[in-house]
Amino acid sequence: QLLIIDFGSQVTQLIARRVRESGVFCEVHPYNRVDAAMLNAFSPKAIILSGGPSSVVDAGSPRADAAVFSLGVPILGICYGQQTMMAQLGGAVEKGDSGEFGRAFIQADAKTPLFKDMFGDDHDGREEVWMSHGDHVAKMAPGFDVLATSPGAPYAVIGDTTRHFYGTQFHPEVVHTPRGAQMLRNFTHGIAGFKGDWSMAAFKDEAIAAVRAQVGDGKVICGLSGGVDSSVVAVLLHEAIGDQLTCVYVDTGMMRKGESDHVVSLFKEHYDMNLIHVDAGDEFLDLLDGVSDPERKRKIIGGTFIDIFEREAKKVGGAKFLAQGTLYPDVIESVSFDGGPSVTIKSHHNVGGLPERMDMALVEPLRELFKDEVRALGRELGLHADFVERHPFPGPGLAIRCPGEITRERLAVLREADAIYLDQIRKHGLYNKIWQAFAVILPVQTVGVMGDERTYENVLALRAVTSTDGMTADYYPYSHEFLGETATRIINEVRGVNRVVYDVTSKPPGTIEWE
Ligand code: XMP
Repeated sequence: QLLIIDFGSQVTQLIARRVRESGVFCEVHPYNRVDAAMLNAFSPKAIILSGGPSSVVDAGSPRADAAVFSLGVPILGICYGQQTMMAQLGGAVEKGDSGEFGRAFIQADAKTPLFKDMFGDDHDGREEVWMSHGDHVAKMAPGFDVLATSPGAPYAVIGDTTRHFYGTQFHPEVVHTPRGAQMLRNFTHGIAGFKGDWSMAAFKDEAIAAVRAQVGDGKVICGLSGGVDSSVVAVLLHEAIGDQLTCVYVDTGMMRKGESDHVVSLFKEHYDMNLIHVDAGDEFLDLLDGVSDPERKRKIIGGTFIDIFEREAKKVGGAKFLAQGTLYPDVIESVSFDGGPSVTIKSHHNVGGLPERMDMALVEPLRELFKDEVRALGRELGLHADFVERHPFPGPGLAIRCPGEITRERLAVLREADAIYLDQIRKHGLYNKIWQAFAVILPVQTVGVMGDERTYENVLALRAVTSTDGMTADYYPYSHEFLGETATRIINEVRGVNRVVYDVTSKPPGTIEWE
């Protein structure tokens, strides 16, 4: 496989995407975790050095471990990666007076397999590229030649065709470099000799083999929420180890309409899995009685969830492993440049603290995948489209969509209204255009008139956002017709709501959830 060494660029993940899209499996590792021993264990067939925010000229700026350059494998350095390669192999880098940012055109100065199917038939055309750099290479290291130039970048692409080391000043991984993916493919396929036969089907087989090798004949417990990640983990493990797997589905009493039945019937009846369905609604709701602070709600729910999970898992007896749907973005370690590496791992996917508390080893078969790759794996495993395409649903469930005190009555109103809202979205073919959509029941009553009667009922807010990772989001621009029709249906069909509003806040400054 291919190794991407990360120097902290915002777009390093895009390199991984492009490489995998061309059928080559790769992993991203921060520069300060790559040394001779790691390289020996990983045994990369080719290496890409990413861009990064530092300046090679500054003392103490990041470098690739020297062992990288003596492996005898092809290397491509991008932007900062090119600059550090030059600095490390005997060239020179200068700080520019002004940087070069945005669109530029390069022309090929030499023929190389790196430019296959680029620059027109005779290699005499131009290619549009995306530059974003302050520093630039001032002197090439011995053995390198200029392969392409732009008016502002005499070393736009350089290469040592004997050692198969290449460097680009621009970013081939971004969409603003239209033939960048082709160039990366020329590097991986043409120069490094990858066949490009990696696919989700191959990944599935490897993941199944890896799970079998890890757990042997041991028992595995898996928390199943019905969300995409845990559903894919459950189906994958079931295929790998069958009855050695037990899933625990905890109904917190704050699920959406029909949700528990849907999940339990699919996994228990359709897949015939060992599934423990814990109906813990009363336990949760009693503990939440009178609580309105959002963080207290989360703490109570999280703690109770763990208690119940632990209790149920113990009943299975002798499970040595806990399976989790941790994804790639959760484990990518961010690289800090002002005090050594810092590790950022999101915790909300993890069943907090459970592995230590229960002395279990983790099984995390999705650690190397992005969200849309998890969906592709789900399809590969034949998981029902309803589950593969699902919007995210937070662990605390409807509790954080019920600002103020949570009561069974308010939850019932919210559940009905939310179901109508989602039904409308599906009927209008909008579900897959939206990242997440839900209703929120507000802790205020307003006056209305229905028939000749004065009403004094709840206000319901509708939320729908587009996003790629949930970190930033924009509200979804529904048509007025859609909003009007949906409000009418909710008010007519749900007792207890007499007013509907639509939330048009982006994130930031808002968050996706209201609590
Ligand atoms: P916010 O509201 O922070 O949400 O913009 C971003 C994404 O995270 C989900 N979310 C949660 N998921 N436990 C979870 O498992 C939580 O406490 C939680 N809070 C928010 C939210 O639904 C959205 O997808």
